[in-house]
Amino acid sequence: MPKFVIQGGKTLKGKITVSGAKNHALKLLAASILFDSPVAFENIPEIEDVFRMSELLEKMGAKINVRHSVSNRETSGHALIVDPRGIKKSELDREITKRFRASIVAIGPLLGRFGKAALAHPGGCVIGERPIDIFIEGLAALGAAFKEKDETYFFEAKKLAGADFTFRVPSVTATETLMLAAVKADGKTILRNAAMEPEIPALADFLNRAGASIHGAGTATIEIDGLGPDGKLIATNAERVIPDRIEAGSLAILGALTASDLTIEKCAPEHLGSLLEHLKAAGVFVKAGPDWMRIKRAKKIGAVNVKTREYPGFPTDLQAPFCILLTQAEGRSEIFETIFDNRLEYLKDIARMGADVTFCDPHRAIIAGPTPLRGRVMESPDLRAGLAFVIAALVAEGESEIHNVYQIDRGYENVEDKLARLGASIRRVSA
Ligand code: EPU
Repeated sequence: MPKFVIQGGKTLKGKITVSGAKNHALKLLAASILFDSPVAFENIPEIEDVFRMSELLEKMGAKINVRHSVSNRETSGHALIVDPRGIKKSELDREITKRFRASIVAIGPLLGRFGKAALAHPGGCVIGERPIDIFIEGLAALGAAFKEKDETYFFEAKKLAGADFTFRVPSVTATETLMLAAVKADGKTILRNAAMEPEIPALADFLNRAGASIHGAGTATIEIDGLGPDGKLIATNAERVIPDRIEAGSLAILGALTASDLTIEKCAPEHLGSLLEHLKAAGVFVKAGPDWMRIKRAKKIGAVNVKTREYPGFPTDLQAPFCILLTQAEGRSEIFETIFDNRLEYLKDIARMGADVTFCDPHRAIIAGPTPLRGRVMESPDLRAGLAFVIAALVAEGESEIHNVYQIDRGYENVEDKLARLGASIRRVSA
């Protein structure tokens, strides 16, 4: 397994381009199961979770043509064509499903296409319990029965029928799964208290361009006029993945800590409102245009409290990188992680690097700063904390080693090359 070797303390400078959003690309690929034509995609990030989703589709019978030039703009693996017409299976490969959470989204389109879907408990980041009860409740409302046998979940619907369903709590992947299932249901579905993350309206736009009728995605109430089981979805143009807001936000945080002048290109600052306000509140210079941001290292960073929330609140996926910034802030900052129940564990490693962290309860911690960080050997627990370790190592004095790089590769494309081009000392070394 490779590791990253990082020398901290370098000043970064330059321009960096953000990749396509993992959590949009994965859902687009899953949605292709519903299509009656090949579907072309652009700006697909070359990351491990995308490779896993591609394998999952191929195991079911899809053909994927990677490195096919969809347009003149892109000729690499960022452009690909999925031909879902050969999909015959409605059961997700067990081993692949266990490797990433987004695999569960495929059950929505499988139910729409075959009236049934089966999967093992989906894996992904170890950030607390990640149950699937809301999927079961929502799909039941649409007419899908659920049973569990031999550690496999089975969903089956003789007929999917539109329903009025309210999420107990807004769930991103459950909203996407139900929206996908409802596209080929009979009648109207209304999803209330739905998640509003930008990847959801982007997914709805994609489906609408192909013939679906979805309104309100991006708000808490989504209405889907089902096409019925015989309805067709036909892709006409290549679908472009939106910029990864979590990569962009993490780079902004890195810039605030280490860059004399950093420009982040091909990003969508409008999706990062809460983070940008937190950075400004901490005294960081940030300027944002329609698709770029410019950040400079702050002379003095002020303490600021952070509470994670569903979009448009502060994203849980930026909580770990932001805490690295808080280790360098003057004063006490309180962190309140409200979305997941085990997403502060990584702070134990940050404390071992020299941060002053007080754990209050599983959801709350206090960071008192500023404290110098010292390089260490660490293991990425999940992709977001893994990138936070990279940021901490770039800030720290001395050398750090980060193991379990697979976790980082799940969500970030070529992170070491991108950062090295800015002047960071980071190498991928085969262990
Ligand atoms: N929840 C349930 N039951 C369910 C589903 C969710 O109790 O059936 C709970 C979760 O345990 C959590 C809350 O609902 O407490 C919200 O979680 P949500 O379902 O929204 O999370 P998710 O859909 O599993 C997606 C992203 C995560 C991101 C969260 C929150 C994907 C593939 N994953 O997860 O991204 O943190 O939304 O924004 O879209 C990542 O990319 O690293 C990542 C973890």
